Amino acid sequence: MKKLAAGNWKMNGTRAALAEAQALTAAHPAPACEMLLCPPATLVAALAAQAKGTALMTGGQDCHPKASGAHTGDISAPMLKDAGATHVILGHSERRADHGETDALVKSKAEAALAAGLIAIVCLGETEAQRDAGTTLQVIGTQLDGSIPAGATAANLVIAYEPVWAIGTGRTPTLAEIAEVHAFLRARLQGLIGAEAAGTRLLYGGSVKPSNAAEIFAVPHVDGALVGGASLKAADFGTIVAALSA
Ligand code: PGA
Repeated sequence: MKKLAAGNWKMNGTRAALAEAQALTAAHPAPACEMLLCPPATLVAALAAQAKGTALMTGGQDCHPKASGAHTGDISAPMLKDAGATHVILGHSERRADHGETDALVKSKAEAALAAGLIAIVCLGETEAQRDAGTTLQVIGTQLDGSIPAGATAANLVIAYEPVWAIGTGRTPTLAEIAEVHAFLRARLQGLIGAEAAGTRLLYGGSVKPSNAAEIFAVPHVDGALVGGASLKAADFGTIVAALSA
């Protein structure tokens, strides 16, 4: 299994930001890990065109469950695919919180992604209150059971464990806490998709940065990272790519 360094630009970046992606591909022409950036929807086509022929892949940050129709402001999975995307992030905690996305909705979006030939990156994670209450594994297990699309395989599904309280805060779980969740996810996934679970990438996300990437990537069952803030600068994301390639 090749590890995956995935960057999530969130609602950041205009066309000027494409220069960062250019710098990234110039510095990392052939990384040992897979390298993905998910820019805002306005930049997906431009980034995919710019990155053609390089090791960098392009992804979306969300898609609608339907392929087309009267859904003002939404973007469908076939549209992302047509724009050059290979992946789409689904169920990010910011979408679950800002847009009330449920596990069932995330599942339907993931099924739309698979139908369009995209790789679905399904995000899950506990809030700080849930961790404090000792319900982390229960919460994550429920999210996993409810969000996994029918037809998921190691080739079309990626899971990202992102504790809500670690996103954009500079705080991270201990390595033991990450290890506990990732081992739990691997086992739970096996119950859902059988042998495919062994090869399904399990990413850790939440305040991954150049200074902590190597130690997090050494944790068993951590097969890459979903990186927000540190993916905006080529130098920072490049250091994380290098750590995953080591
Ligand atoms: P962060 O965001 O790296 O800025 O904490 C991670 C994410 O939300 O995917």
